[in-house]
Amino acid sequence: MVCKENTLSIIKPDAVAKNIIGSIISRFETAGLIIVGAKILQLTYIQASEFYFEHQKKYFFDSLVNFMISGPVFVQILEGNNSIQRNREIMGATDPANALAGTIRSDYGYNYTKNAIHGSDSKKSAIREISYFFDT
Ligand code: TYD
Ligand code: MG
Repeated sequence: MVCKENTLSIIKPDAVAKNIIGSIISRFETAGLIIVGAKILQLTYIQASEFYFEHQKKYFFDSLVNFMISGPVFVQILEGNNSIQRNREIMGATDPANALAGTIRSDYGYNYTKNAIHGSDSKKSAIREISYFFDT
């Protein structure tokens, strides 16, 4: 079923530091996803922890949060048909070593933590994550 929906994307500090925001967002545009909101932010420890609260008991939580606050991030709302799942496909698997060739994480990710990009994983998370960063 085709469903026009919004999803949250974050270009993570590793990719912002590499100056590849444009290369990444051109992939969204090529795929027909439309950027309907965007901003550059420096997250605080509290913001990154709240954003990733579902992982707070995991062994990687502290390194994840410290990485997410290590430099600015580029936060966007992407609009399009089935944008949540399609964005996840364009991103590739969490571990860049397992990501399909041609995906953002395969091309630009470094390791499990420094993996270039975040994308909402469900409708429920998309709604929560968009409202965390944008007044819509
Ligand atoms: P997760 O939500 O499982 O992955 P995704 O970003 O694909 O939705 O995990 C959130 C982030 O936590 C992930 O992008 C990178 C980090 N992470 C690690 O550093 N080590 C790990 O073993 C996992 C599973 C995630
Ligand atoms: Mg996730």
